[in-house]
Amino acid sequence: MTTARAHTNIALLKYWGKKNTELILPYNDSISLTLDHFYTDTTVDFVSSLTDDEILVDDQPLTGSGLKRAKRVLNLIREQSGIQENASVHSTNHVPTTAGLASSASAFAALAAAGSKAAGLDLSDKELSILARHGSGSASRSIFGGFVQWHTGHDSQSSYAQSIQSAVDWDINLITALVDTKKKKVSSTMGMQAVVKTSPFFPAWVKSAQADVEPMKTAILNKNLANLGTIAENNAMRMHATTFGAVPNFTYFQPQTLAILDAVRNIRKLGVECYSTVDAGPNVKIICASSNNELIMDKLATIINRNQLLVCKPGPGIKYL
Ligand code: PMV
Repeated sequence: MTTARAHTNIALLKYWGKKNTELILPYNDSISLTLDHFYTDTTVDFVSSLTDDEILVDDQPLTGSGLKRAKRVLNLIREQSGIQENASVHSTNHVPTTAGLASSASAFAALAAAGSKAAGLDLSDKELSILARHGSGSASRSIFGGFVQWHTGHDSQSSYAQSIQSAVDWDINLITALVDTKKKKVSSTMGMQAVVKTSPFFPAWVKSAQADVEPMKTAILNKNLANLGTIAENNAMRMHATTFGAVPNFTYFQPQTLAILDAVRNIRKLGVECYSTVDAGPNVKIICASSNNELIMDKLATIINRNQLLVCKPGPGIKYL
């Protein structure tokens, strides 16, 4: 029996579109920051008396596409280890249910780590990243702490994440503005599928997203918050532009999302470095130095309640408990 802990991550350069839906291979590289506050603890045991995998998330049986993805990861572990038994999986999300933050990244990273160890495998971080990717693309990045790059690759073995800077020794954090914490109408899988198929902006997105990779890595290594934030904000807006171009068109933005994006631009005009990024949902994550947190949160308090603002710092990679 093994327990592993994995933390969530937020993409500064987004993964948005699968070129292979079975293997979950992306169209472009993505770069993320692993966060400290939010994580998943998962315990896996392979038990001969079980007639099927038994997967509980926060004490509830997993169903639907989550179950299918978890079984896909467990089947790969069985294939690699030769183990025949079904798995008992207990997963606890320490991502507040109201946080509206994706727990799939931390969940599948923790499942890959705990499951492979419980099956007696001793996988490298790269192998863990490949395994976690089969659950959800963003999970490939949650194996590592700090700044992480997921390489597109051309097949399963070449599509994995790697650390850019694991110990983040400079002042960068994210303020999450929780605009709406209800389940979103268009899942990231559905959204990606729609834009790949129907948005004329998709090819332009892929081209510009790939062109962002080297400048973003340089900004990280130079600890240059202004360049990092500018590239991240533009990247996120271009990702969302693909949804406006889809047929039928859709958006993850809500009125409050737009109000916060605007407020961040205005705060920046005052000379305060802060930048927005938005994932497949209405919540805005604001990239800034922690020394500006109070000032930024005070300004945003005219739009959103103070208790809907959460501060996150860089977090660590996989741990075994
Ligand atoms: O890994 P998924 O299927 O949850 O997709 C994640 C998609 C985005 O959050 C929008 C971008 C990203 O790179 O995390």
